[in-house]
This record gives sequence, C-alpha cells and structure tokens, in this order.
Amino acid sequence: MSALLEATDLCRHYEVRKGVFGRPDIVKALNGVSFSLEPGRTLAVVGESGCGKSTLARLVTMIEEPTDGQLLIDGRAADPADRALRQTVQIVFQNPYGSLNPRQKIGAILEEPLKVNSSTSARQRREKAKAMMERVGLRPEHYDRFPHMFSGGQRQRIAIARALMLNPKILVLDEPVSALDLSIQAQVLNLLIDLQQEFGLAYLFISHDLSVVKHIADEVMVMYLGLAVEKGDAATVFADPRHPYTQALLSATPVADPSRKQQRVRLEGELPSPLAIPSGCAFHPRCPIAVPNCAVDVPHLRDVAGRLVSCHLA
Ligand SMILES: Nc1ncnc2c1ncn2[C@@H]1O[C@H](COP(=O)(O)OP(=O)(O)OP(=O)(O)O)[C@@H](O)[C@H]1O
Ligand SMILES: [Mg+2]
Repeated sequence: MSALLEATDLCRHYEVRKGVFGRPDIVKALNGVSFSLEPGRTLAVVGESGCGKSTLARLVTMIEEPTDGQLLIDGRAADPADRALRQTVQIVFQNPYGSLNPRQKIGAILEEPLKVNSSTSARQRREKAKAMMERVGLRPEHYDRFPHMFSGGQRQRIAIARALMLNPKILVLDEPVSALDLSIQAQVLNLLIDLQQEFGLAYLFISHDLSVVKHIADEVMVMYLGLAVEKGDAATVFADPRHPYTQALLSATPVADPSRKQQRVRLEGELPSPLAIPSGCAFHPRCPIAVPNCAVDVPHLRDVAGRLVSCHLA
C-alpha cells in the first residue's frame, strides 16, 4: 500500500529574540523526524510537553511549512496553496471549544467547510451534516444548538464531524481526548476506531498519555526534544520498550493488570530548554543508565529487536 504521509528529516526551527537588541536564538522544535503513514493505520506520537508534537501537527496540516526536510501527502509535495491537498488532511484539537465558533449553530459549523470548498446545494449540505451528526452519535435536534449547550465529549464529536465533512484521508488528532473524563475518553476513542474502519482513515494521533494510545495505535513514535528516540510497531514497543526514555514514560503509566510487576524508571530532573539541547544524546542528563560517552556521541535510530531506537546502550 502506498503511504498517505511520508515525512523525511522534517525540521521546524523558530528564531526567537530576547529583547529588541538581543541576538536571535534558534528553538529546534522539530529537528529531523521521519515516518510514514498508510491508509487505515494509526501512528501515535508521544512525549512530554514541549517535545514538538503540535509543531509536527502544524507541519502535517500545512498550517506551517518545515524549515527543512520533505513532506509528501498522498504522494504529492505538501503545499498550502494546494486546496485539494488541504482537504486531504484535517485536524482535531484538544479543546474543541476554542475552535468552534460560539455564535454558530452546529448545523452551520458542519456545513461551512462544504460551503467554502464545494458546489453543493443548501439541501445537500444539510443532508450531509445531519448524516454526519448521526454517524458521530449526535441527535437530530442538536442541529440547531450552539456549542456552549454541549458537554466536552459532545463538543469533541462535533469537532470530529466537522473534520470529516470534506472526506479527508488523514486526520491529525492533537490530544483529542486529553481534556475529557476517563469514561468519556473511552467513548470518543471507540468512535474514532469505528470511523477509521468505516472510512479507511489514517490517524496521526498525538498524546502525552501512553495509556490512551495503547488501544488505538498501530505504530508509535516516541519523541524527545524534537527527535524520535524510539519508533516501531506499537505492540512491540509497549511490551518491551528499549529506549530508557520510553521505559520511563511507560513506567509512569498505570497498568491495568496489577500482577504484572513493573520496573519503575524515574525521570531525573526537568526537560531541558529546547534553546539549549544537551550535547551527545539529548536525553543523557536525565538518563538513569548514561555513561560518559553519551554526552559526546549523538546516537542515531538503529534497529534493536525489531524497532528503531536511538540509544548507544540499547
Ligand atoms: N512559534 C514558536 N516560536 C518559538 N518557539 C515555539 C513556537 N512554537 C513552538 N515553539 C516551541 O517549540 C517547542 C515544541 O512545541 P510544541 O507545541 O510542538 O510542543 P508539544 O509537544 O505539542 O507540547 P504540549 O504537550 O505541551 O502540547 C516548545 O519548546 C515550544 O515552546
Ligand atoms: Mg501540543
């Protein structure tokens, strides 16, 4: 199967200035990330706050352009001026309230993408909106309500419905359930799984929470300070993580089965500033198994037991 997304060494650097006369510093929010994503598959992108997940989401949705590297979407070079390509990739954010116009009724919110991007009649738009509402578990009478009249879970269903109105092939989900209660999280995740099967969607699923992506990911990419540190089949990585950072993230996640004893790996210290990325392996100052060479030599992704890991000691 040919990939819907093909990213090669994607970088996004930001120039920041301290004061008017300060020399510019470079924030390396994304520093050379490669992956591919096929139809009907889910790639989970996980890592702590600030590791570059939303930056990646902005590149894939062409809200921003990479400062280096290559991005192919559905076989074509990413180009924000390419309207058809823009329709191919849609995004759902963590907080749908921020992205739903409070003065628009749900019907209008869902029909707007069709109004702007297609030559459909008012009646066709209404029919499509109502069908999509039903598909995501909203009731017909919701059509005439405003966003503030809905719960968080329902609002996220609205955001998902809107994202699907133009029949995209790829959905970028940036922490789509992180703001929801646990029981609601499960409902929305199940809905996403159903929709993926029905429409053959590819998901780039971003989360800081590994317990969320466990149920939905086919592949996982663990990021640290703008780089992938472990990448591969989700079941393989979750069952037997090989990068000390992945091990630490996983041991911080509660396990459903308490008989499965976990080795706790604790993360030392705070995430360094992306303005001052540590030498050698960027993870070395916090790594429980680092040796002196880790501060010198930069590790690269290499095959370790069937997945890619960037660690000298894995
Ligand atoms: N426009 C910008 N200018 C300067 N720095 C930026 C900009 N956008 C993002 N950054 C920095 O890039 C890094 C990555 O940010 P990003 O939002 O991608 O992280 P994230 O992994 O999504 O975090 P979170 O889990 O908190 O959402 C952060 O250090 C952030 O401060
Ligand atoms: Mg983010």
